[in-house]
Amino acid sequence: MKTLAFPKNFTWGVATSAYQIEGAWNEDGRGVSIWDTFSHTKGRIVNDENGDVAADHYHRWKDDFALMSELGVKAYRFSTAWPRILPAGTGAVNKKGLDFYDRIVDEALKRKIEPYVCLFHWDLPQALQDQGGWPKREITEHFAEYARVVAGRLGDRVKVWLTHNEPWVAAFIGYFLGDHAPGNKDIGAAVKALHHLLLSHGLAAEAIRAEAKQPVKVGLTLNLNPVHPATDSKKDKEAAKRVDMFMNRIVLDPLLKGTSPIQEAAIANLLVGKVIHDGDLAKIRRLDLLGVNYYSRTVMKHSNKIPVVNVEQVYPEGNEYSGMWEIYPEGMYETLKLVWDYKPTCELMVTENGVPVPDGVDFDGRVRDERRIRYLRNHLAQVHRAIEDGIPVKGYFHWSLMDNFEWSLGYGPRFGLVYVDWKTQKRIVKDSGRWFAKAIAENAVEI
Ligand code: FCB
Repeated sequence: MKTLAFPKNFTWGVATSAYQIEGAWNEDGRGVSIWDTFSHTKGRIVNDENGDVAADHYHRWKDDFALMSELGVKAYRFSTAWPRILPAGTGAVNKKGLDFYDRIVDEALKRKIEPYVCLFHWDLPQALQDQGGWPKREITEHFAEYARVVAGRLGDRVKVWLTHNEPWVAAFIGYFLGDHAPGNKDIGAAVKALHHLLLSHGLAAEAIRAEAKQPVKVGLTLNLNPVHPATDSKKDKEAAKRVDMFMNRIVLDPLLKGTSPIQEAAIANLLVGKVIHDGDLAKIRRLDLLGVNYYSRTVMKHSNKIPVVNVEQVYPEGNEYSGMWEIYPEGMYETLKLVWDYKPTCELMVTENGVPVPDGVDFDGRVRDERRIRYLRNHLAQVHRAIEDGIPVKGYFHWSLMDNFEWSLGYGPRFGLVYVDWKTQKRIVKDSGRWFAKAIAENAVEI
């Protein structure tokens, strides 16, 4: 046994998002979001499930904070629902929606839990999608308006702000692959959406700083993953490089280097014309904090299966897999290193990491999720390795506090440190939750 001690003041947190836990989809003046529309459309979500009730956090938030105190977390990352606050996306503010998040922030502070507020975790107001959604440039102004409203209300207490969660996923899974809301399949729209998401980050960052009544940190979180070639062949290596560009650098370059592969790629120009206006790239780089969401790696080989990009994903034999992905702890280190190689001047944190493994309630009411404990231990060891190597990772947020609605996969995958019984809404702290609580209390992990 070896003890890996984490730096003093390391931020131990848990993360959630509004649509995945709140429920109360049509209460207290909340507007309709693209995820309501999408999940209410037959055939979009496994078993036609939806987030109408989810973990009923809108009504049970006090109990959920008690659970966070039980775990001893130092920080809580959650998202505000745009349609709860501006039901039509812009214009009239729904006071009851803002009041809800006001209570959440106060409760967190009362319990000495630092609130990390994320403004956009994919639940775009349907009214804005009806006007074209993220592919339309005007949306960047609407997002800044929303940021102004939220920061105007919470900015006296919230010190850390995340504008977007995983803009790549919102753009490409939502507008190109169509597996997420709004379910479109248009590559050009996805490219535009990505640029507007990033640009809106910059505009929102400015708005938040102007509204906050104290110094704040503003950043965003990215889905990143190391891309490995399936073999050492030149063709596979090039395939991996193309995918790395398409999934990682397309977002990292504008944020950390001020350049954009979209601008440089002839194919992108052909598809969408001039989507990046003069001055946009300078606005995007307003970043105090970069959140890394790491789950798995991608292994790619050259193949003619998908034309133009000529790649195919492969799943190496002999490794452990979860309900959704290969489990590859070293990828945590590799991802942090990938970002660090950009020489970022902003802070770095892990804002999501977790695993969907089938958890069961045992005869005595306990959830013995040993695979999640192993996952946690191995991934935290890689965070520690990065810190030892001089990468100043400031914190780690586990995805997720509790089981929740996993987007197009519905309630199947369970990511929580806390089990939720979907029939009764009863919560049970899993063994992994207790393990995490111990790591937090000791500021260390035993491996
Ligand atoms: C991330 C999302 C989060 C959750 C996890 C499993 O991509 O940000 O909402 O669904 O994956």
